[in-house]
Amino acid sequence: MRRTRIHGAIVVVLLYAAGTRAQQYASCNNVLKPAYPPPVVGSGWVAQLIANNLNKPRGIIFDDNDNLLVVERGVGIRRLIFHQVDNEACLSIAETKSVTEFQDLNHGIALSNDGKTLFASSTDKVYAWAYNASSGSLGDQRTVVQNMNVNGNGHVTRTLLMSSKQPGMLLVSKGSGDNVDDRARDRSTGVSQIRAFNMSNLPNTPYDYASEGTMLGWGLRNSVGVAEEPITGGIFSVENSVDQITRDGTDIHQDNPGEEMNFHGFLNGSTDNQGGNYGYPDCYALWDTDIPDVGSMGVGSQFSQEQNATLNDTTCSETRVAPRLTFQAHMAPLDMTFNSNGTEAYVTFHGSWDRDNPSGYKVSSIQFANGQPVAPFTSTESTADMLSNADNSACPDSCFRPVGLAIDTLGRVYMSSDTTGEIYIMAKAEITALGGPSPTTSSGMPSATDSSSAGHGIGPRAYVGYGGGGGEGAGWGFGLTALACFVTGLGAWAAFPVVEPRARRA
Ligand SMILES: *[C@@H]1O[C@H](CO)[C@@H](O)[C@H](O)[C@H]1NC(C)=O
Ligand SMILES: *[C@@H]1O[C@H](CO)[C@@H](O)[C@H](O)[C@H]1NC(C)=O
Ligand SMILES: *[C@@H]1O[C@H](CO)[C@@H](O)[C@H](O)[C@H]1NC(C)=O
Ligand SMILES: *[C@@H]1O[C@H](CO)[C@@H](O)[C@H](O)[C@H]1NC(C)=O
Ligand SMILES: *[C@@H]1O[C@H](CO)[C@@H](O)[C@H](O)[C@H]1NC(C)=O
Ligand SMILES: *[C@@H]1O[C@H](CO)[C@@H](O)[C@H](O)[C@H]1NC(C)=O
Repeated sequence: MRRTRIHGAIVVVLLYAAGTRAQQYASCNNVLKPAYPPPVVGSGWVAQLIANNLNKPRGIIFDDNDNLLVVERGVGIRRLIFHQVDNEACLSIAETKSVTEFQDLNHGIALSNDGKTLFASSTDKVYAWAYNASSGSLGDQRTVVQNMNVNGNGHVTRTLLMSSKQPGMLLVSKGSGDNVDDRARDRSTGVSQIRAFNMSNLPNTPYDYASEGTMLGWGLRNSVGVAEEPITGGIFSVENSVDQITRDGTDIHQDNPGEEMNFHGFLNGSTDNQGGNYGYPDCYALWDTDIPDVGSMGVGSQFSQEQNATLNDTTCSETRVAPRLTFQAHMAPLDMTFNSNGTEAYVTFHGSWDRDNPSGYKVSSIQFANGQPVAPFTSTESTADMLSNADNSACPDSCFRPVGLAIDTLGRVYMSSDTTGEIYIMAKAEITALGGPSPTTSSGMPSATDSSSAGHGIGPRAYVGYGGGGGEGAGWGFGLTALACFVTGLGAWAAFPVVEPRARRA
């Protein structure tokens, strides 16, 4: 396939019905550029790098003042205040402030439903503080859930999610201590489970993770991403499945098992689809069906590594909860969140190590309807790329690695990348409603990737970013142009591309 990347610069001039506002756009000249090849933006999306130089950013969440709280692993929590230029895509950091320098925090973050209590987790505990969104300051610290350490080399994150449907119910996900952790077979250990604790009804001593709260599921190796469908209140998680797997003694780890999206029912007291054993460490989801003795199994079927009189594929199928969706092996999903009407979920894939050809290293969208994924559970095509690395063979070294997700009041999606210390913004290139050209008919559209001329500031503003998609260079840069029109709702657009095809240089 021909794949031309056009390398150049773009200057976009927006003509504003509302008159002269040139002064406000000064911040738009400060466009960030990654130190690795520019990411590829999925069809229908636009994206831009909006923050860098963070320390291993993991979980992210917006507070009630629309400022972004970022857990910096091993450092604390930082608050980012953005320049919001009439809600456009041209975001930049106006101010950053340390909220806490508590170094035990490593991933999980949540806010109470009224926004006035902040929760964050270490490997062992969930902490709570009174939070003032105006000042970004915390009150006294207290522990609300404890005893979450697992001995072993394993998984240290304790993902937090506050339910919107059942205010006060805080979901806490805890993975295994090792790749294969036998303790997960005993539900009383609390290993590899998702549990919910009522923060409106705190006991005198902190909740004990393994013995209190409501168990939403067990046998979940490391379900780092947890999400609540906004209409039905259905709870979903995305699971990092096992490494180095064999089947009847044959190494099948390159393409098995699949990563999983699981469903855990509702928090309204219904026990339907809740509290079951999801398989680990005995049963796994099939991705590549080319395995010994596959029988009638297909994608998403639960299988065991060996088959004997007490544990076999039939046991797995009949007594373990199968995933709602299965993803390519080792992509490492780390977060999941829904858009406001539950028609789409977004998932970050941190990327593989246990595979010759790296998989993951991207953010994807998944279609939902009526509270469930649209794709059948056997699908191998349930995800659509939103933002991916240009060349996975360069990963992990020269790639972003998606971790946390947050959505702002305009439905724009924010993603943290821990290894590169960055935050990206992604937004829909919905411009047709405003009479602009459709991003899929990008012939002749302006194109750009290079920020070399970003500082010129010609006209009211300059945009440089990543946009378009579909792999064709013609989409580059156009996306942000489109977004500018879309989100302002005020401007007509005119573009002056300065196009320098890379192909000609080669
Ligand atoms: C929150 O911080 C603001 C700004 O510093 C201050 O005016 C306000 O009194 C604080 N609110 C509370 C409840 O402490
Ligand atoms: C949480 O506790 C509060 C206070 O006791 C109670 O009103 C609420 O129903 C509880 N929520 C759930 C989901 O049990
Ligand atoms: C819980 O919510 C689900 C989804 O809305 C609904 O189908 C179910 O009937 C509810 N159960 C209870 C006990 O309210
Ligand atoms: C079947 O295999 C499982 C897992 O390897 C093992 O724990 C169990 O003891 C085996 N059962 C028999 C009867 O060999
Ligand atoms: C599979 O394991 C189940 C117990 O989980 C046992 O009843 C059944 O006989 C086993 N099947 C085979 C073919 O060994
Ligand atoms: C759901 O919200 C999205 C924006 O996030 C919008 O594009 C879509 O039309 C909405 N769908 C429905 C069925 O309301």
